[in-house]
Amino acid sequence: MDFRGINTPHSEWSGDGLAIGFFEDAVELSGDLAKLDEALSGILSELIAEAEFKGKEGSSAATRVGSGSAIRKLMIVGLGKAEALKLDGLRRAGAIAAKLAKREKCAHVGLSLPTGDFSPESSAQAIVEGITLALFKDTRFKSETDDKNPDPTQVDLLGLGDEAAAAGIAKAQQVCTGVILARHLVAAPPNAVTAITLAETATAIAQEHGLELEILEQADCEELGMGAFLGVARASDLPPKFIHLTYKPAGTPRRKLAIIGKGLTFDSGGLNLKGPGSGIETMKMDMGGAAATLGAAKAVGQLKPDTEVHFIVAATENMISGRAMRPGDILTASNGKTIEVNNTDAEGRLTLADALVFADKLGLDAIVDLATLTGACVIALGNDVAGLWSTSDAIADQLKQAADQAGEKLWPMPMEDKYFDGLKSPIADMKNTGPRPGGAITAALFLKQFVKDTPWAHLDIAGPVWADKEDSYTVAGATGYGVRTLVNWVAGA
Ligand code: BES
Ligand code: MN
Ligand code: ZN
Repeated sequence: MDFRGINTPHSEWSGDGLAIGFFEDAVELSGDLAKLDEALSGILSELIAEAEFKGKEGSSAATRVGSGSAIRKLMIVGLGKAEALKLDGLRRAGAIAAKLAKREKCAHVGLSLPTGDFSPESSAQAIVEGITLALFKDTRFKSETDDKNPDPTQVDLLGLGDEAAAAGIAKAQQVCTGVILARHLVAAPPNAVTAITLAETATAIAQEHGLELEILEQADCEELGMGAFLGVARASDLPPKFIHLTYKPAGTPRRKLAIIGKGLTFDSGGLNLKGPGSGIETMKMDMGGAAATLGAAKAVGQLKPDTEVHFIVAATENMISGRAMRPGDILTASNGKTIEVNNTDAEGRLTLADALVFADKLGLDAIVDLATLTGACVIALGNDVAGLWSTSDAIADQLKQAADQAGEKLWPMPMEDKYFDGLKSPIADMKNTGPRPGGAITAALFLKQFVKDTPWAHLDIAGPVWADKEDSYTVAGATGYGVRTLVNWVAGA
């Protein structure tokens, strides 16, 4: 799919399908649109009238244009009230237009959206992200595809013909390579994505985009005393990999950050085996944090912000075997803290504990971790919204803003220190699991024990990592959640 910004008026554009966006209560045909309507013998005004189109957010309609015209299909898309337009509104409108154009079998598409007060660069970026991610389809594991309508091959963004918009298009394409990598990693089955292949993916990113790479093998992790991570890895027949990718900007870095992703390539629950109805067959998604981390690394390697970023994944799988950690075992993490494992299914926090200790020692300005950590967070916030915990209001605000721009939903949750009582162990420094109520909060409090010096935030992404159903602007399956937020966070603030 090729994107280009052009300044051709609607009335002079030719191609397969022209999609035009309107704000709510501002569906008027004046100036160039009146000219277009006239050239099409009133088809645009007819379409608006017949569809009772008012420009409401998410609404759309399409019609065929008579032969002999410069265009074959005409499409209209609603953006809602002008004053309520967010950047994500442009992303969604782009997505809706793209799906419509594909349905209408348009190869060469023209898209004209009102962009409100947003700059040409941000507008073009959001629109191209919306289009690219809405048309994403994963056919890697199908021997045949059933897709009768090909994707558009050329998309012209009308009114976005300047240099700034071109930069936005390029940025969107770089960000989307990261989001798509994350989707591919999450959607691939657990026999295809393992700790070994995650390390290979990190190697490819390092080579292609010039990042530094360090992979700690099991023996290296033993030397560093990573007993919590290695306790989880014990039952796997595959070697664990501790991945540490570093992006360094050309000059002096403005800030130094770490992004840590939970990297359980499969979570059986361990000896506290996941039971019927637990969704064990979906637990390939338990490396969604790692996927977002590597996706962000890929994007950051191309966008080249002025911030140093450490991308860290303690990758393994949670399996059962005669060597598995037992419920009741006591593990010692790399900061010396002891953990009574009262539930082997609370394994993500064990792997993250050693990753957090590692990052904390790097002397950075901030650490953010992303983890498909708890079912409790899904109960609290549903499938679309990630939970956000932080020891720093500043970082929480930065992330909230980054996510808002990215169109990824997250919501602040309380770091309720009193609930740590639920993790008290009579024999070790702490247990890994507390009572059921507040399960996502005690998980965050557990992680907090492993960050001493660095401002830190935790995102529980168990809900938004996966979408069960397709809707008008997204696809079903792996969402690539987190990549866009992380990229914005690294670049901004
Ligand atoms: N990977 C799961 C959490 C999860 C649940 C992710 C649903 C995606 C969708 C995590 O390792 C887990 O098993 N958590 C347990 C914790 C419990 C044992 C305290 C849970 O949420 O039930
Ligand atoms: Mn688990
Ligand atoms: Zn898990």
